[in-house]
Amino acid sequence: MAKKGRVFSGARPTGRQHLGNYLGAIQNYVALQDDYECVYCIVDIHALTTVEDTLDLKQNTYEMALDWLAAGIRPQETIMFIQSHVPEVMELHTLLSMVTPLGKLTDLPTFKEKIRQQPDNVNYGLVGYPVLMTADIVLYKTDVVPVGIDQAPHIEFAREIVRSFNYRYKTNALVEPQMKNTKILKVLGIDGKEKMGKSLNNHIELAATPEETKTRVLQMVTDPARIKRTDPGNPDVCNVFTMHKIFSPQDEVDMINVECRRAGIGCVDCKTRFAANLNKNLEPFRAKRAELDAKPDVVQDILNDGAKRARTIAQKTMTEVREAIQLP
Ligand code: TRP
Repeated sequence: MAKKGRVFSGARPTGRQHLGNYLGAIQNYVALQDDYECVYCIVDIHALTTVEDTLDLKQNTYEMALDWLAAGIRPQETIMFIQSHVPEVMELHTLLSMVTPLGKLTDLPTFKEKIRQQPDNVNYGLVGYPVLMTADIVLYKTDVVPVGIDQAPHIEFAREIVRSFNYRYKTNALVEPQMKNTKILKVLGIDGKEKMGKSLNNHIELAATPEETKTRVLQMVTDPARIKRTDPGNPDVCNVFTMHKIFSPQDEVDMINVECRRAGIGCVDCKTRFAANLNKNLEPFRAKRAELDAKPDVVQDILNDGAKRARTIAQKTMTEVREAIQLP
């Protein structure tokens, strides 16, 4: 079947991925492969805008690549690569910066947020983050970018840069990307309050052992109003129940929905059941991951091959870009 166009997405190398990454992005990356030609990039250069200590960068990149592959990214069809392996992106970033109004960059809510987060490291790269992201997207003539709502301003921004570039240099060398607003569910951490994330240490890693997973799950916060075992609970406000709905068989979900409300089942029992179902779901992923991890050369080969294929597309785009600008 003919594919509908090209998808591009990037993610910073944050190491071992967690349930939030899986449900929010990776699962969607995997599904998109059926309908689109996909390009998935580990954006190590973007990481440098916030990460000062690069000691773990290689390991984090490798771990993330392992998780993507184990989760079902198919490297024969999909191009999966590391951003810095295609240095053309940095050349394009510089050229795009000439059609990018500085004021727009400094006005972006994402930039303002970063200033708050790292007031002592407001570097030039941070300001240009969306320009580099645009370069990622347009270098591969991307039709569609799947992103969550937090990245929507960046995609709108990318579209503006493309229009400015094409207008200034009287070309149609760059393709305006469409945003695919995926119904990304906000996955809460084990605290049941904040979005799941590594920095808050409220996450559950996909690659954890079944025992570690169970320990984490048992720490999950349930309905805060349910204090005693004999108190009836409210599944509608319980993060564990939300997770059950994703990972547990329907009859079990139905049972919990009824029994929790009349204190027929306790939180510990409920969480133990969830841990078991989660572990069962993750079994094939973990087996595949271990298999890949035993052959790190294979993973490196996949990333190298991805970079090679990505670079072929990138170089073609850059030839058109240079011609459009009429660089001597
Ligand atoms: N900015 C994205 C994030 O923080 C990562 C990213 C970099 C990206 N380049 C991209 C996402 C291109 C989509 C397309 O999550």
